Amino acid sequence: MRTPFVAGNWKMNKTVAEARDLVSVMGKELNKIENIDIVLCPPFISILAIANLLQDTKIGVGAQNIHWEEKGAFTGEVSPSMVKEFCNYVIIGHSERRSYFGETNETVNKKVHAAIKNGLTPIVCIGETLEENKAGRTSEVVSSQTLEGLKGIDAATAAGIVVAYEPVWAIGTGLAATADDAQNVHKNIVRKSLTDLFGEDAAQKIRILYGGSVNAANAADYFTREDIDGALVGGASLKTEDFVAIAKAASK
Ligand code: 13P
Repeated sequence: MRTPFVAGNWKMNKTVAEARDLVSVMGKELNKIENIDIVLCPPFISILAIANLLQDTKIGVGAQNIHWEEKGAFTGEVSPSMVKEFCNYVIIGHSERRSYFGETNETVNKKVHAAIKNGLTPIVCIGETLEENKAGRTSEVVSSQTLEGLKGIDAATAAGIVVAYEPVWAIGTGLAATADDAQNVHKNIVRKSLTDLFGEDAAQKIRILYGGSVNAANAADYFTREDIDGALVGGASLKTEDFVAIAKAASK
């Protein structure tokens, strides 16, 4: 049995003061929910404040990115060991980083290794664009993102990572994938690729999240599917009522 997992990706939203206000309310509600792993991923600048607010709770804190190097002349970047002081998780290879900041399967793989080396659990994002989807290339794109992004990890370590399938056309558009379509990708493309990489045992332990226009109304349907182990939530993670409802649905 895989423990359900719900993460909120705040993207570039909320000042530190706003982040504090949100989490002082949301954190209490989320902390009451049992049998689930919940993680909040605020912008770097709010991580310290949020980690302090959540320190006596079960709720985890994640970064939205890291560099793969430990330190050095990389202006504007943040290293895994810096993140590790306050976080247990890090989102890697989000489609917005791939499309706006030039991240590739190769840089994703370097970051995944750097995260693991520093004891951070990577939440590795994969997903096809609308164009790729329309061209019937979903399987090819998603399997190569999985195989290349996660190569070189040993099976025992891989069992603890988290993968998020986020079709790019579903992110922030309101056009969520159907639960059936997401289940199909999770089982037949993502978990199959994970099995090819790490073997059946480890692949069955890896949590695969769905992301893309998940909201309080549609969330429960995803979690009834066998290979949808939780959600990576953008917009709805910025609203207490919605994110709490999503986490509750996943915990059932
Ligand atoms: P939305 O939930 O806003 O569609 O964003 C999904 C996402 O990109 C989470 O990483």
